[in-house]
Amino acid sequence: MSSTTTKVFLTGATGYIGGQVAYELVNSKEHKFVVTALVRSQQKAEKLKAASDNKIIPVIGTLDDLTLLGKQVEENDVIINTANVDHVPSAQALSDALSEAKEKKILIHTSGTSVLGDGLDAKKGATTKVYSDKYDIDEINSLDLEQPHRPVDKIILDIHDRNPKVEVAIICPSTIYGISNGYDNVVSAQIPWLIKSTIRHNKGYSVFDGNYVWNHIHIKDLGDLYLLLLNKLLRGDDVPANRQGYYFGSYAIEGEEKVTTEPSEIEHTWRQVSAAVAESLFAKGVIESKEVDSLQPEPIIKLNDSEWAPYYWGTNSRSRGDNGYAIGWKPKHISNKEFFESIDADVDYQLKHSKT
Ligand SMILES: NC(=O)c1ccc[n+]([C@@H]2O[C@H](COP(=O)([O-])OP(=O)(O)OC[C@H]3O[C@@H](n4cnc5c(N)ncnc54)[C@H](OP(=O)(O)O)[C@@H]3O)[C@@H](O)[C@H]2O)c1
Repeated sequence: MSSTTTKVFLTGATGYIGGQVAYELVNSKEHKFVVTALVRSQQKAEKLKAASDNKIIPVIGTLDDLTLLGKQVEENDVIINTANVDHVPSAQALSDALSEAKEKKILIHTSGTSVLGDGLDAKKGATTKVYSDKYDIDEINSLDLEQPHRPVDKIILDIHDRNPKVEVAIICPSTIYGISNGYDNVVSAQIPWLIKSTIRHNKGYSVFDGNYVWNHIHIKDLGDLYLLLLNKLLRGDDVPANRQGYYFGSYAIEGEEKVTTEPSEIEHTWRQVSAAVAESLFAKGVIESKEVDSLQPEPIIKLNDSEWAPYYWGTNSRSRGDNGYAIGWKPKHISNKEFFESIDADVDYQLKHSKT
């Protein structure tokens, strides 16, 4: 690994998270990064090259091209995985290739705080259970393999045991909001999908009563966290890594003592988000009512054409990103006001760009 130029292989660079990460890498002041990005088509390759002023080198393939992934591991110092975070064969292929590494390599993988989610239950209400990536790491490392994202998380977290030359970390974002600086898809998933299906429902809706608490993070704060963590790992700083290297993409509250079923100033309920979405769409004359229906999972599955849809807005997932702050992360978009105001901008974006 050269101290001046670092070779990075990035998956998901045309996506929302990966686009922000790519932007951070090509604009980094501390390190010069040479970024090779996995893209799924020639058309996306051209788009990425043009939009990044030829700073990103595309390589065409998919997460199923396991030999290609192995070759990229050999040729690069750092691997950042932001494409489909539940893709087990590619995670296994990265692990196998990294286990053969003869010199220091770094892998930063992306997960998601659905890993903490509880199941669907009309009676459960909001939880007071909060997970800190710093203080509850043993509990996080013992989460059931049935939990979303866990199978891949586990493969990643085992890599350092297979080869101590490899340092791994997982960044695990909560609900990401805001428009990214990326190159192709620049919008998130959970809230934009809710906007689209609320338009189809012609009225607000939530999963049951929607009183389930989640955290959120602005995409630019998330991008800062990837870059900060990468720079620290490259310098060999003593930061949480490997089995301790779990970083929630969530804010934290200094000296937080009492957790209630009410969302704190760094959290939202999905009912609040549904209400804000309905309010915005109604104010723009798009839907007939700003009321929020409490729906059962079945109609939500139909509305979204996805069996997973009720889980997007029907679980509790309360996380605290203490590790980020511990390594010097200084997020700039913590205000809940900014989060709720961003919903109106998401609505405008969907109305302009999307066929619902
Ligand atoms: N957005 C959030 O709030 C959030 C929060 C936590 C976790 N996550 C997880 O993080 C991952 C990325 O999320 P995102 O919001 O950035 O999604 P996104 O905007 O849809 O981007 C996904 C990226 O991965 C690429 N990709 C997907 N499947 C691939 C495959 N089989 N082979 C190669 N490339 C593939 C896509 O390529 P194309 O451009 O060709 O489609 C795109 O570049 C997802 O797994 C998501 O579940 C998202």
